[in-house]
Order: sequence, then C-alpha cells, then structure tokens
Amino acid sequence: MVLPRRDAPPADLAASIQALKRERDAVIIAHYYQDGEIQDVADFVGDSLQMARFGADTQARTIVVCGVHFMAETAKILAMDRTVLLPDTAAGCSLADSAPEAEFRAFVQARPGHRVVTYVNSTAAVKSLSDICCTSSNAVQVVSSIPREVPVIFGPDRFLGDWVARQTGRELVLWQGSCEVHELFSAEAMVQQKQQHPGAITLVHPECPASIIALADVVGSTKKLLEAVRSGPEHATWIVATEPGIIHQMRKARPQGEFLMAPAIVRGGTQGACTSCNTCPHMKRNTLEKLWRCLRDGSPAISLDPALAARARLPIERMLAVS
Ligand code: 13P
Ligand code: SF4
Repeated sequence: MVLPRRDAPPADLAASIQALKRERDAVIIAHYYQDGEIQDVADFVGDSLQMARFGADTQARTIVVCGVHFMAETAKILAMDRTVLLPDTAAGCSLADSAPEAEFRAFVQARPGHRVVTYVNSTAAVKSLSDICCTSSNAVQVVSSIPREVPVIFGPDRFLGDWVARQTGRELVLWQGSCEVHELFSAEAMVQQKQQHPGAITLVHPECPASIIALADVVGSTKKLLEAVRSGPEHATWIVATEPGIIHQMRKARPQGEFLMAPAIVRGGTQGACTSCNTCPHMKRNTLEKLWRCLRDGSPAISLDPALAARARLPIERMLAVS
C-alpha cells in the first residue's frame, strides 16, 4: 500500500479547511482580490474597511486573513490577544512599500501643524506616525472630518489623495506613492474599449490615476463597485478598472452580465494592451493549499511589538469612529 506523504494536501482542500476552522475556533476573512476558491471558503469577504471591522468584532481565537500583509497587520493591531494568520507572509503591497518609515517620518516632521491621514495600505510603523487612517471607502469622509483650516498630509497613495482632494475641494500635501496594479491602466486603450462597447458601465477604483477616473461611471472602493453591479441592470456590460479578483463576486451577483477587464499597459513597457497585467501578484501569493497549511500548522502568524501596535491602533480606531 502506498501511504500518502505526510505533507501531501488532502484531495478535498475546501472540506479540510472547514474542519480545521472548527478545530481551531478560526474565522477566515478574505479580500475581494483573492482567487474565487479562497473567497468561497471564507466566513467573510469584503473590502479593506469591512475586513478591519469584521476582524475587530469577531470573537474567534484565530483570525486567518486572506489578503496582503498590511491587512493581517491591521487585524492583529485590533486583536492583539488573538492569533492572526496570513497564508503567505511574503504577500506584500507596492503601496505600503512606497512609504518607508524613516522617509515618511522625515516628511511629517518637515511639516509641523499638519494632520496626517494615512491610507490603511501602509505598514504599522507608518500608521503609528498618523493622526487618522482611512480606506478608499471612507477617505472623503475622514478628510472632511478635519477642520478646513487645518493643513492635511495624505499618504501613501498619490492618486487616491488627488481624487480625495478633488472630491473635498481641499489642497492636500501628497506623499508620492502608488499601487503598481492600479497605475497600470491605459486611458487610450480604455477609450477604444468604451467605443467598442457603447452602453457599457465603467467601474474604477480611486487608486487609479485621474485620467482613468475621468472615464468612470462609478468610482469607489471594491465594495462600492460591487454594490453598483448588484443594484445595476441584469444584462449590462461592465468595464472593470480594478483587480480582476472582484469579478468573482460580480458574476455571482449578475450571472447574465458581461464583465470586461479594462486594458492595462503591458508590464515591462512593451507596446500594446493587456487584460491580465492588473492581477495583483501579492494578493495572488495566497492559495487554497497555503490556506489549508496555515490552518493546520497555526502558522505563519503575525507578531507585532505591543508598543507599536498600541500607537498604530489609535489612528485606526479614530477611522472606525468617523465612518
Ligand atoms: P478596497 O478593497 O478597500 O477598495 O482596497 C483596494 C485595495 O487595493 C486593497 O489592497
Ligand atoms: Fe497593494 Fe495594489 Fe495589490 Fe492592493 S492591489 S494589495 S494596493 S499592490
């Protein structure tokens, strides 16, 4: 008889994940950019704000975050007494990486008197230098909560910051970071796509540059874009300018709809347009097998210095109170 390798994954990964979840008193929180099979085993699927809220409210002993590192870190900050697992700890984020702590500290210190608003797509160290955090679903609300006469630093995403500045009619001091996925859409190719599909409804995430946002019918967080589909016509064609993982829920909501990825500039600068270059390589590091392994082993777990976590918690709690 051939015995299975000790480390071989079970044939039915999804069923084993559900069994391990019960054994460990665990919940799985997934972002909309995860692969569909991960979203389907999760207890909760949402945008960054919803994930943070769910993580803060759950009583489960173990929280498995299927997303990227800053999302797991946020969950840990809000639940230091719980085990927070991330299936692949190398799942980073170009936006968070674009704001190294020392440079961001110097930027803030050079501008005394400014209120610092930090997008949650940032490290705990950068959050700890901030007055209040925001996500793409509440950024306008968060900035509007600051008196108009108070100058505001917004980081790390310059495109989200630029959009918020236009929405609020305020001048913001922008940190020049960006998301490698959302900055890649091609306005020229999107105009052509819209001409080929007259009547299509264009959905754009505000991490995109202004030239892409200008082509949108709906601008907002992943949750808002999904809500637009849920409340939209049954047979519509949708042009989606965000990470393609979200289309999994869009198709479920509107099985008769047609979903087209907005074209991107080909990674590496080659001429032409690409409809898969906007896949987030960090989000896609998580797989069903890695999720099963991390639940089985109780690792890799996020660990954070308690003093840093306490400093980073304050701006997150202020955000949760505002929105
Ligand atoms: P939201 O889901 O909050 O819109 O965030 C998008 C994103 O890029 C997460 O990394
Ligand atoms: Fe970061 Fe962009 Fe990936 Fe979101 S899509 S995790 S902002 S690199």
